[in-house]
Amino acid sequence: MASQGLIEMEMEVNDWSSDGYVTSTQSLRASINETIFENGRRYHTYYGYDKNMLPVDEAEQDRLDLHHEVFLSMMDGKLHAAPIDSGKQRILDIGTGTGIWAVDMADTYPNAKVIGTDLSPIQPKWVPPNCRFEVDDAELEWTYRAESFDFIHVRNLAASISDWPRMMSEIYRATKPGGYVEIGELGGRLFSDDGTMTEENPLKKSFDLTIDTLETLGRTFPVAGTLQGRLEAAGFADVKEFSYKQPYGPWPKDKRMKQIGAMALVMLDTGIEAYGIAPYTRILKMDPGEASKIIHEAKEVAKDLSIHTHSMYYVAYGRKPAE
Ligand SMILES: C[S@@+](CC[C@H](N)C(=O)[O-])C[C@H]1O[C@@H](n2cnc3c(N)ncnc32)[C@H](O)[C@@H]1O
Repeated sequence: MASQGLIEMEMEVNDWSSDGYVTSTQSLRASINETIFENGRRYHTYYGYDKNMLPVDEAEQDRLDLHHEVFLSMMDGKLHAAPIDSGKQRILDIGTGTGIWAVDMADTYPNAKVIGTDLSPIQPKWVPPNCRFEVDDAELEWTYRAESFDFIHVRNLAASISDWPRMMSEIYRATKPGGYVEIGELGGRLFSDDGTMTEENPLKKSFDLTIDTLETLGRTFPVAGTLQGRLEAAGFADVKEFSYKQPYGPWPKDKRMKQIGAMALVMLDTGIEAYGIAPYTRILKMDPGEASKIIHEAKEVAKDLSIHTHSMYYVAYGRKPAE
């Protein structure tokens, strides 16, 4: 058993075909909660200092929950694009964060059983009875039995995963024949359709610096076709990819896009720092004052409604061929 002793939740273990992932030890209830403070943010360090460079503090948890609303709005309120049915599905959400997607799925599909896994135990304790959380590293070898899940969901892990082919092969193994896998990732780079976002814009420069720095660790952000390619290379069939614009700021005329932009702008208030400060100071060895200056300037520019910028959000799903 990998992680189940580590989290303080009531679990009906017996009817799950899972042991989680392989972890180095099982007796670390205290250290699983180990965090450090750095540049005013709290980071979880149990799986390694640089494993997740995003903070796990309350500001970050609020940001993740708000981003969930943004993702839902972009997808017309849908929690997923894959054509799963509402039967007795076994569903896995990798890198679940605050667990908000897993909880919503469990509420939406009361006959399903949903597991959310994450490096950090930041999920709520009171959850629907058909939902549970495990603390573990999805980049380690999985000990879930082959063909355990009808649906595996991965969202917004671009900043963390270095070896996608390896994780995709574990995902493939753990998916039931006929089951679906869905990945949703923000491309991260900033664009504008009207030329108002320029290469010299401090917001764009900070986004680019963050992405370029994380990519030196192999943590790649997708462009069109990346997620489709990932699923097809792993062996999934009937792969479909969709893309959505995520505007920053309430500049769009369309009401729904305006709301998305307004929420995304609130996210930026802590998000630029959440994504940037650790890569800048740890990898680029930047002085914290210099890093904060870049982040502060980016935040100021983000409020300028004359700059009509957006990122792309990509969603792709595929089906494991039936035997
Ligand atoms: C940007 S958050 C996204 C959370 C959630 N998927 C969502 O969309 O709301 C990334 C999450 O992935 C988790 N994570 C990063 N690397 C991981 C890994 N190797 N195994 C499990 N979880 C991981 C982080 O702890 C963090 O909670």
